[in-house]
Amino acid sequence: AGPALAQVPQSVHQSCMICHGQTGENTIYPMVPRLSGQQVQYLAWQLKQFKAHTRADQNAQIYMWPVAQAMSQKEIQSVAKYYAAQSPMHSASSPRPGVSAGKQIFLQGIAAQGVPACMACHAVNATGRGIFPRLAGQRYAYIVQQLSYLHDGNRVNPIMQPVAEKLTNRQMQDVAAYLSGL
Ligand code: HEM
Ligand code: HEM
Repeated sequence: AGPALAQVPQSVHQSCMICHGQTGENTIYPMVPRLSGQQVQYLAWQLKQFKAHTRADQNAQIYMWPVAQAMSQKEIQSVAKYYAAQSPMHSASSPRPGVSAGKQIFLQGIAAQGVPACMACHAVNATGRGIFPRLAGQRYAYIVQQLSYLHDGNRVNPIMQPVAEKLTNRQMQDVAAYLSGL
């Protein structure tokens, strides 16, 4: 039972739900992020970045630029509020290998590589806050994809890039296994 159709912003049922699902939880492909319970400020900020073409990784260009192009500031705010208000995304799959190594990275960082603890920004339970996205319950393949985009500089962000740059592929997979399982 999702929300009544009348409460769903028009752009959600005309467009977003095709890929992200009506509540933002059941996304069509593993590369499409969950949006349910995501931080409202973060959602609006990403939509503005797609619209301004400053988030320019390949999947952003293909899938989100055409969508965001047509959105007014008012629509961005209402859609962000709508998805943020849905029951928070949570794990839908069985545990993957790497969870305990990933948990350690998330909570403590990797001192030897100069990687800070992720929880310092994303919060101890990975719920995020403000511009720092929620990661708990996000899709595994999406997390790995974003970390590698940030690692390679295909997604540009001065705060997150220096962190992702220092992670190996294996460490990205471990931390994604932990986070997607929350
Ligand atoms: C990413 C919102 C429509 C596919 C995102 C993100 C937001 C968003 C906020 C970033 C999430 C994050 O960083 O965690 C919306 C809204 C839509 C919409 C509000 C409708 C107005 C669509 C449609 C598709 C789609 C129709 C598929 C054709 C994707 C994909 C990504 C994404 C693949 C990941 C992009 C990347 O890897 O950089 N969307 N979306 N979205 N969305 Fe949408
Ligand atoms: C974004 C993971 C540490 C600040 C992200 C995203 C992931 C991620 C997967 C993309 C989320 C999405 O697209 O929905 C991690 C991991 C960390 C870590 C695994 C530890 C190894 C940090 C730290 C900070 C930080 C320490 C603050 C200093 C941010 C910010 C964004 C972000 C601001 C949004 C970037 C943007 O707007 O494009 N993080 N993070 N993260 N992270 Fe982290």
